[in-house]
Amino acid sequence: MKKRLFLTATAVAVAALGATSAMAQADTFKIGLILPLTGQQASTGKQIEAATRLYMAQNGVNVAGKKIELIVKDDGGIPDASKRIAQELVVNDKVNVLAGFGLTPIALAVAPIATQSKTPQVIMAAATSIITEASPYIIRTSFTIPQSAVAMADWAPKNGIKKVVTLVSDYGPGIDAEKFFKDRLTFNGGQVIESLRVPLRGPDFAPFLQKVRDIKPDALFVFVPSGAGAAVMKQFLERGMDKAGIKLIGTGDLTDDDQLNDMGDGALNVVTSHHYSAAHPSALNKKFVDAFEKANKGLRPNFMAVGGYDGMRVIYEALRATKGAGGGDALLAAMKGQIFESPRGPMFIDAQTRDVVHNMYLRKVEKKDGKLYNVEFDVIKDMKDPGKTR
Ligand code: DHB
Repeated sequence: MKKRLFLTATAVAVAALGATSAMAQADTFKIGLILPLTGQQASTGKQIEAATRLYMAQNGVNVAGKKIELIVKDDGGIPDASKRIAQELVVNDKVNVLAGFGLTPIALAVAPIATQSKTPQVIMAAATSIITEASPYIIRTSFTIPQSAVAMADWAPKNGIKKVVTLVSDYGPGIDAEKFFKDRLTFNGGQVIESLRVPLRGPDFAPFLQKVRDIKPDALFVFVPSGAGAAVMKQFLERGMDKAGIKLIGTGDLTDDDQLNDMGDGALNVVTSHHYSAAHPSALNKKFVDAFEKANKGLRPNFMAVGGYDGMRVIYEALRATKGAGGGDALLAAMKGQIFESPRGPMFIDAQTRDVVHNMYLRKVEKKDGKLYNVEFDVIKDMKDPGKTR
């Protein structure tokens, strides 16, 4: 008799516990943030995590009757790890949104999981054009490499740069950079006289730069992923290539705000094209940079941080628009077409392509208050991904 009573009581308690956790589940909106927090791409992960936490601190965690929970996972920059983590986040944690993705192969590895589980996948970093076509559940808040490369290929020949050697990391975004830069430069009457590719993992730039020095083009156009630019800059200067009259140009990944101030005065006057500079002169950006630096011991936000910050904006607004009720399809629909002011400038998620439309800026490295910045001097407004017209 006693035993039965005990069992009943336990059953009631367990049922009650189940009910509470089910309620907690129903009231929680989970964002699974997959980032490279260790390994070669660790600075990307650090910047994006800091930006998402800043967005949450500024905007609260209670939206449309839900409590937003951020689950941060380190994939070390390895696609197999990202895939396993994404599976766990979807199946065990039942996340409402997958976000992050520090490298193109990672975004592509996770895409089938987003499709199968109908979970929106918000790309905050990766930038190869094709990514958005890998799943109808992908939305991008970072940028596309063809946007940056085409902007540079329009600027260069108008500024005395006709013969160029390209040097890119040998994977998705590097191949995009090489192709879109070359096609556009050729169209504009310039010429790519050599195309060099360096491995993504542990690259040694020395032999490639020596070759460029021997060829002696008007300029060297570079794409390397965030975090690798300082090594290129250092070796470029050590070989005296600037003194030999070879200009250094590239997508803005080269003069990454995360590293720029440590590159030294040799980086002065380097021109790049990109969607974000920490020196972007808007009130909103000043506020963003100040708050980010304050929350992160003076760390300057780079373009990765902005991709993360804007990604959170897109998720928050989709949750609000669906009044907290949204499943994957409803959330996705509410993410498409969002238009808002970002720290980068005006920004739009094209409903058709689910890709980002924003300004591309030409910037030159200058010293302001003793610090190096990418100072914007020209703009191409509202640029769509040139890769989408394939
Ligand atoms: C990618 C990664 C980067 O760090 C970057 O600056 C641009 C593109 C990518 O893998 O897509």
